[in-house]
Amino acid sequence: MRRSLANRLALVFFVIVLGAMAIVYLGVVPTLESSLVQDRSRRLQHAAERYTPPIVDAIDSSAPVSQVDAEVRQAADQARARVTLLGVNRGSFGAQPFVKSDSNAGADIGDLQFPAATEAIQTGRVASATESTRDGRVLQAAIPLFFADADSGRRVLGSVVVYTAPLEDVEANVELIRNRIVVAGLLALAAAVLAGLLVAQAHGRRVRRLEDVARRVARGDFSARFPVDRDDELGRLAAALDAMQRQLAELDSSRRRFIATASHELRTPIFSLGGFLELLEDEDLDEVDRARFLAQVREQAARLGKLATDLLDLSRLDAGAVRLRTEPTDLGALAQRVAGEFAPTLATHDSRLELRIPGDPVSAVCDPERVAQILRILIDNVLTHTASGTDAVIAASRRDGRARVAVTDFGGGIPRGDAGRVFEPFYTSDGARGSGLGLAIAHELAEVMGGELRVESSPGRTTFALEIPA
Ligand SMILES: Nc1ncnc2c1ncn2[C@@H]1O[C@H](COP(=O)(O)OP(=O)(O)OP(=O)(O)O)[C@@H](O)[C@H]1O
Ligand SMILES: [Mg+2]
Repeated sequence: MRRSLANRLALVFFVIVLGAMAIVYLGVVPTLESSLVQDRSRRLQHAAERYTPPIVDAIDSSAPVSQVDAEVRQAADQARARVTLLGVNRGSFGAQPFVKSDSNAGADIGDLQFPAATEAIQTGRVASATESTRDGRVLQAAIPLFFADADSGRRVLGSVVVYTAPLEDVEANVELIRNRIVVAGLLALAAAVLAGLLVAQAHGRRVRRLEDVARRVARGDFSARFPVDRDDELGRLAAALDAMQRQLAELDSSRRRFIATASHELRTPIFSLGGFLELLEDEDLDEVDRARFLAQVREQAARLGKLATDLLDLSRLDAGAVRLRTEPTDLGALAQRVAGEFAPTLATHDSRLELRIPGDPVSAVCDPERVAQILRILIDNVLTHTASGTDAVIAASRRDGRARVAVTDFGGGIPRGDAGRVFEPFYTSDGARGSGLGLAIAHELAEVMGGELRVESSPGRTTFALEIPA
């Protein structure tokens, strides 16, 4: 369960969304509060600068306290803030603010420290600050008011007007946004996990289908097909597996065919041997018949022996278990040697084998024993599959950096259309004479050496040419 693709994908989705939410949360919430407070503070300062002049006028014109109070209240109404007019006491402890007028007259303001006012007094400039009170945090903007001192003629700071506005709504907004982000994040997380599970499950189902078919194929059921449902990675994987399965099926059927034919080929000489042995057991047999039967027994035993060797050769080649002993070889001299081996058989076949080799050696790097084996198979075929008296030519040459040995005969040729099949194991066009393994072995040997064996045949002329890298 823990290892399933679906769970892992859902977990990945979960982690990604969680990470994204954390980035949004940490990136937005802390700066959101400070920028909202800054914005409020700017607006409060604007309002303060705008609504303070009437208060300044009242003070400058030495208006009665009640009028100053009225101006303070009016400014508070317009700025929608609490407005406090503070006087400044200059004692031995420095400048100390004291309340002269407050728009919330009667309300207790004992807990307010007016840090903005202190700053404005110190700097002589508009200042703003936040302050914590019993009813929550508040924002303050302080405007210093100056008057010209009659004696010295200097500008002296006489009082400070402080605008105080609650920060409750800012905090409420921040709280609201924080909650929204958390709720949206949780919803997104749930959606991501669900989507991850669904997507992964859909893919998991497709993978399981491939797995099921693969198991059936592994059990030997080659009729099972991999479903190629879409043109994506999994679809392409299924197509590749399907192609592999077809090839496996083909290999399997050719293997079965091979075994069936091989057993059949082996059975024929064994039965015939048994038959002759029974005949030989007959005590009344005369010497002539006995000699004839013994000759048959020898022939069948030789055939069986050759068949066994050929089958072994072919299976070694198929398994890639053939070791080559490559060395620089003169193909002309090799062809001459092999042709020499066939002199007695050629004589009984009443054929002439002409050698055409150039003056210079036809050198190639190959395994001379394997090349000789191929040439023997080819010459043997000339002797087996052409009428007696058919001549042949064996020629060695070099062309385009490749060495070539070709065996040409002037016999009846391979039936039209069958030339492509002569290299298949057990293929014979004239049934009775061989088991059809010679050319299959020769073809595989040529490939193992990095070369090629090709056939060209027409009635009256058949050429098998071996080409190997020089
Ligand atoms: N030179 C040739 N002329 C005509 N037919 C040929 C020639 N060489 C091969 N063939 C055809 O190709 C078939 C396959 O040859 P291959 O050498 O593989 O088998 P084979 O000679 O029948 O048996 P063996 O395994 O004993 O060699 C032959 O049965 C024959 O019909
Ligand atoms: Mg042959």
